[in-house]
Amino acid sequence: MRARLHVEPSSHPSQSQHGRPAEGARPDGQRVLLRRLVHASARSRHDPDRGLKEDAAFFTGKGADGQFVATIPVPVDEALVERGHQRYAIYCQPCHDARGDGKGILFQRGNVPTASFHQEKILKYPDGQIFDIVTNGAGLMPGYRWPIPPADRWAIIAYVRELERKRLASACGRSAAPVSEAPWPVA
Ligand code: HEC
Repeated sequence: MRARLHVEPSSHPSQSQHGRPAEGARPDGQRVLLRRLVHASARSRHDPDRGLKEDAAFFTGKGADGQFVATIPVPVDEALVERGHQRYAIYCQPCHDARGDGKGILFQRGNVPTASFHQEKILKYPDGQIFDIVTNGAGLMPGYRWPIPPADRWAIIAYVRELERKRLASACGRSAAPVSEAPWPVA
């Protein structure tokens, strides 16, 4: 057995297996970083500062100008919305209910007014403002900065927007096609 150790001189313990990152690194953080890096590198060819600006938006919901960003600063695809659906069911649904009408436990048991996502005020909020509310709380609602990582907060917002869009689409008597021209009823 001893002799075998000597015939494998090229295997250094410091080299990670199969090019994988070192053990102990947090998988969640890595996924977030990877997504941001891929995204930032695709954009950075056009604007070298773009990655930095997106960092601020990603973690605070605010752009370099201090204003809430209008739209989610990561690519929104089906996987993100599905992830958001799962996280929403855990973190938001107990109070805001499955449809986002605010008829959850606080309302049912304590008659506590819980915001509906379908009211015009919230339909008009920039995505970054909803991110800020989830991060820091609002009024009686607690903040979720620690239990929900930023990437998942954005995923939840993508799902909330999907709930709103579907409600609007059915209210307009249309199919669930993207509502790009009128994000809220203009009656
Ligand atoms: C423990 C119950 C509870 C949970 C869980 C909860 N909320 Fe709320 N939320 C509330 C209540 C109550 C209000 C109304 C706050 C007020 O006006 O005092 C509210 C208000 C809001 C508002 C509107 C704030 C405003 O500016 O009027 C948004 C947006 C919101 N919640 C999003 C979310 C999202 C997204 C989640 C999941 C990450 C979530 N909430 C989880 C109870 C909750």
